[in-house]
Amino acid sequence: MKIILAGSTGFIGREALNQCLQNPAITSVVALSRRDLPAHDKLKVTLMKDFASYSASVRQDIKDAEACIWTIGLIPSTAFKDDDGATARRVSIEYTMAAAKAFQESCRKPFRFIYVSGAGAEQDQAKSLWVMRDYRRIRGLVESELLNFARTHPDFTSYIMRPAMVISNKTTPHSLLFGLGPSIRVDAIAKSMVELAIDGGEKTVWENSEMK
Ligand SMILES: NC(=O)c1ccc[n+]([C@@H]2O[C@H](COP(=O)([O-])OP(=O)(O)OC[C@H]3O[C@@H](n4cnc5c(N)ncnc54)[C@H](OP(=O)(O)O)[C@@H]3O)[C@@H](O)[C@H]2O)c1
Repeated sequence: MKIILAGSTGFIGREALNQCLQNPAITSVVALSRRDLPAHDKLKVTLMKDFASYSASVRQDIKDAEACIWTIGLIPSTAFKDDDGATARRVSIEYTMAAAKAFQESCRKPFRFIYVSGAGAEQDQAKSLWVMRDYRRIRGLVESELLNFARTHPDFTSYIMRPAMVISNKTTPHSLLFGLGPSIRVDAIAKSMVELAIDGGEKTVWENSEMK
């Protein structure tokens, strides 16, 4: 099968890319990226400047794909730093939903969209939140929009992954420290996502502990 990856220059996306390239069930990977990636026989890098808009040539590259693993996103410490969340909203909501719409229009059906959200994402936009309020609401809003999109497009399934802290599969001071709290190894979340992309799954929302 052909699969789309977005975010493959990042920490989680890089591991997802490696696992896709090693998996015999995946014959072809299209990486939508702002930057080039190391060459591989199975990989086509489709460079994009604006993830809100899908040109005819990008649509041509993705047209046989059956699934996407979407790991584009911002981390809480930087998401609201400079512009009061405008970039966070654009990257999180606008880019993700533009992708869902373009994939629904241009790719093979049925289609599976696997989205990396985060632990604590809150879909109820009216609920009072004391910690990381804006970040958790934006995450929850993307989740709701993706799940609603899937409800109105029966041949499109959205899967939501809610990792807590994602740690390296190597032993480092960071992984030892953060591994003490709610966490998941990067190879474990990538494996869960690749399996969902290939086989689908009964559940659509995956909490941190359910991925292990
Ligand atoms: N790491 C964790 O512990 C953790 C835990 C829970 C949830 N998450 C979520 O998982 C997702 C991935 O996390 P990560 O740790 O892999 O992040 P990361 O290493 O910072 O990677 C982020 C990816 O998103 C892309 N990206 C960022 N801004 C973009 C923009 N404006 N336009 C296009 N691409 C853009 C980056 O591309 P460039 O290389 O081109 O910048 C990169 O490929 C994020 O949504 C994050 O919030 C992460």
